[in-house]
Order: sequence, then structure tokens, then C-alpha cells
Amino acid sequence: MGNSAKSVLMVGLRGVGKTVLLDQMRSDAERLGVHTIRIEAPENRSLPALLAPKLRLALLRLSHVEAARDYAQRGLRALAGFAKTLKLKFNDLEVGIDLEPEAGLADNGDLEGDLTALMEQTGVAAKAASTAVVLFVDELQYLKEDEFAALISALHRCAQQKLPITLVGAGLPQLLALAGNAKSYAERLFDFPQIGPLTPGEALQAIVKPAQEIGVDYEQQAALAIVTETKGFPYFLQEWGKHAWDCAQSSPIRLSDVRQASREAVAALDESFFRVRFDRLTPKEKQYLRAMAELGQGPHRSGDIANILHKRANALGPLRASLILKGMIWSPSHGDTAFTVPLFHEFMRRIMPELEK
Ligand SMILES: Nc1ncnc2c1ncn2[C@@H]1O[C@H](COP(=O)(O)OP(=O)(O)OP(=O)(O)O)[C@@H](O)[C@H]1O
Ligand SMILES: [Mg+2]
Repeated sequence: MGNSAKSVLMVGLRGVGKTVLLDQMRSDAERLGVHTIRIEAPENRSLPALLAPKLRLALLRLSHVEAARDYAQRGLRALAGFAKTLKLKFNDLEVGIDLEPEAGLADNGDLEGDLTALMEQTGVAAKAASTAVVLFVDELQYLKEDEFAALISALHRCAQQKLPITLVGAGLPQLLALAGNAKSYAERLFDFPQIGPLTPGEALQAIVKPAQEIGVDYEQQAALAIVTETKGFPYFLQEWGKHAWDCAQSSPIRLSDVRQASREAVAALDESFFRVRFDRLTPKEKQYLRAMAELGQGPHRSGDIANILHKRANALGPLRASLILKGMIWSPSHGDTAFTVPLFHEFMRRIMPELEK
């Protein structure tokens, strides 16, 4: 309708369904004729390198719309200037060049200004084509602060001009603070829906319904046991559902099947979901997380964690910061520390039974 809409940044712990939601929204948007761009921010690639090739494709598509052709072509010139200038700063930036750059258009060499000019041109082309461009960006917490700031600033400018270009992002809970640090007005520019575990009622549905649809029932006690064990976390529900299905010989699935499934699900998670994260940690980081686990699920005061390790909280600051950067923990409020992976405290106690000090 041409009205403006706030960008959306979904935040939540590991495995709650952010990526599933992001992709569902994207396919819904595509079905409505919206141009979408899907990127995932990994830990080691720059935003311009990720964004430029996708913006190019969107601009090429828009250039096929008669009413938008000139604007989209100007967008491609902006992209050429953007790539040519910023390549020096971002060596991983590579994109096909379709038209010659236009002097002064997105070629200042300053990411914030150039990205703004490029996104504005894209927005103008989308508007002329009576459509919208939506950026779907996953794992946003891994963007570098200045790159995130540039993206926020470009979106802000486009929103001010009522251009139909917007962002749907997803990331770990630390995203809220990262956005605020990058640009203080970010909290007004974005909605931050919190994606959390399912309620017990929803979790029960998620377990019972798909089985019922193919003629298999759960004993009530069995389904309730899964809800309790998984605490309603979508990824765990998926794992428990699979193992319960595999363990049961016939319908209905019984409590004894679920008991067996729990052992197998925990073993499978320990081998994969938890393990890959554990393997990326240094020995000191492992020790820190093990100390947290000693205190239970959390959140915990930094001072309490330090006490367990017989250290001063200040001395552990850099360690804590690197764990936040790796996406293992986050700070729900000042001085508090919590795991980003549900049930990680239980895993830490299993894999490191002894607390070393
Ligand atoms: N709506 C859903 N329907 C069915 N399964 C779902 C749904 N949402 C989540 N799941 C299950 O949970 C798993 C994790 O979901 P997803 O990958 O979206 O989590 P995430 O929040 O992106 O996690 P991460 O922070 O680790 O990227 C999925 O692979 C799937 O098994
Ligand atoms: Mg995800």
C-alpha cells in the first residue's frame, strides 16, 4: 500500500525457530510479489560482500519492469560505484558490474554514506515498480558494529523517505544491545519480537498433532513427559519427537518409549548440537561456562561466577566478552550472564563432571 512499516529483528536463544520463521516470512513475501534478499551473516565475511551480489540481482529483476527500468539502472550504476570504491576496504567484495558507475553516486568510500545511497536507489526502483524489497538477514549478531551501523542508518534514511525497502532480521538476544550500541535510535526504528519456547499447551500440540495426523497416538503421560524434558524448546521437541517415534513399536507411544527416547535424544544432542559449540571453545572459556553451569540454568551475576573460579569479576571481563562474541552467552541485564543455548548448563555438567578451579 506504500505505507511505511518498521523493520523487524527477531531475537531468541539457539534453536527456538528464528530461521524457520524467517524463511516462512520470506516465502510468504515472495508469494505476494515482494522482492526478497536472503543473507546469513557469518563470522568472517563483510556486509558489503554479502549484500552487493544480492542487491544486484534485485536491481536486475526490477530493471525488467518497464516503469522502474531507469531507476533500477541508476541503482546498478550506484552498485558499480559502491563496489569499485569499497573493494579497497573490503577485499572480499566481489560483484558483477553491469553498467558504468556514475561519478558521485555511492562512491565516497564511506560505507555508511555509500550503502545509504545504494539502498535509496534500490528503494526508488522498487517504488516505481510498485513493489517492495525486503532484506532477510539471519545471525545478525555476527555483523561488525560499523557495518551494522551503516545498515541501520541506510534503513533509517529509506524509512524517512517512505521508500519500500525494509529488513527482517534474526539473531541471538545480544542483538538488542548491539543494535543500540551501533545506533542509539535503533530501538525506535525496529521492532524486536522475542522468540521463545512454546507454552506447555503449544508444545503438547507440536508433539501430538503431527503423529495423530498419520494415525499414531501418544499416551497422555508420554506426551507430557516430552513437554517437561524439552521445556518447550522447538528444536528439542523435534529431537524428542523423532526418537520417541523410533523407539515405539506400535501406537500409542508409551511413557517407557519416551524414557528410552530421552536417553537417545540427550546422547544425540551431546554428540552434535551441544558438541559443535563446545569444540569451538578455548580451555579457559570451557572453565568459565562450567562455573556458570555449577550455579544452574541462570542468569547469574558475574561476581558469583567469578567467586566459583576464585577470581575477581574484572579479571574475567575479557573472557566473558569473547564468549559473548562467540554467541555462547549474553547479558540479559547489566552484570548478568546467561547461556544462549537452552539446557547448555546440563550439558556442561555432563561433559565436564568435575569443576576445575
Ligand atoms: N515452526 C516450526 N515447525 C516445525 N519445526 C520447527 C519450527 N520451528 C522450529 N522448529 C524446529 O526447531 C529447529 C530449530 O529451528 P531454527 O533453526 O529456526 O532455530 P533458530 O532459532 O534459528 O536457532 P539458531 O539460533 O541456532 O540459528 C528446526 O530445525 C526444527 O527442527
Ligand atoms: Mg537460526
